[in-house]
Amino acid sequence: MKKLVFATNNKHKLFEVKELLKDEYEVLGLSDIGCFEDIAETSHTLEGNASLKSTYVYKKYKLNCFADDTGLEVEALDGKPGVFSARYADKAHDFEANLQKVLAELKGKSNRKARFRTAISLILDGKEYFFEGIVNGNIITEKCGTDGFGYDPIFLPEGHKQTFAEMELSEKNMISHRGRAVKKLIEFLKKI
Ligand code: IMP
Repeated sequence: MKKLVFATNNKHKLFEVKELLKDEYEVLGLSDIGCFEDIAETSHTLEGNASLKSTYVYKKYKLNCFADDTGLEVEALDGKPGVFSARYADKAHDFEANLQKVLAELKGKSNRKARFRTAISLILDGKEYFFEGIVNGNIITEKCGTDGFGYDPIFLPEGHKQTFAEMELSEKNMISHRGRAVKKLIEFLKKI
């Protein structure tokens, strides 16, 4: 089976994407290829950060690679936390502090519209391609559900009665930002 690196250390995401691509590719995470460096995400856009990661791996390890960057964009907060989603409450990857900050900033606000947006950069044999996935929804007023990660317990996708943290992973994958972006990636990889 063909190998493809997903430039991530996040076990949740790697597991999600392995599931989505399991019929086509052996997806390897950064630790699987012995990459333990912290690849800096210094861009001001999701696309820029995804590109920094995929380019780094392709150049250093000479392996086809894709990377993603995701942001939660809340309408009443002018698109924040956006590209700062992982470190919104200052401490990187403190999921609880990050979501509590969003809940506090939305307190008393009636516009709870938000979306998750994922940008993927794929470097295939030296050429770069971009893919985007979006899921619209609302931020509820308190946490609901224990599955998933990040902002999942406060995000209610449009047209659904359960938050991402209450859904089965397969159900989340079908409608999620990352699921949609990865689907576009898969369609592209199948055609090429
Ligand atoms: P990343 O670029 O995928 O690492 O995402 C940045 C941040 O967005 C993460 O640290 C999470 O806080 C949040 N995030 C990304 N994907 C999801 C998701 O599927 N559910 C909830 N939060 C997410």
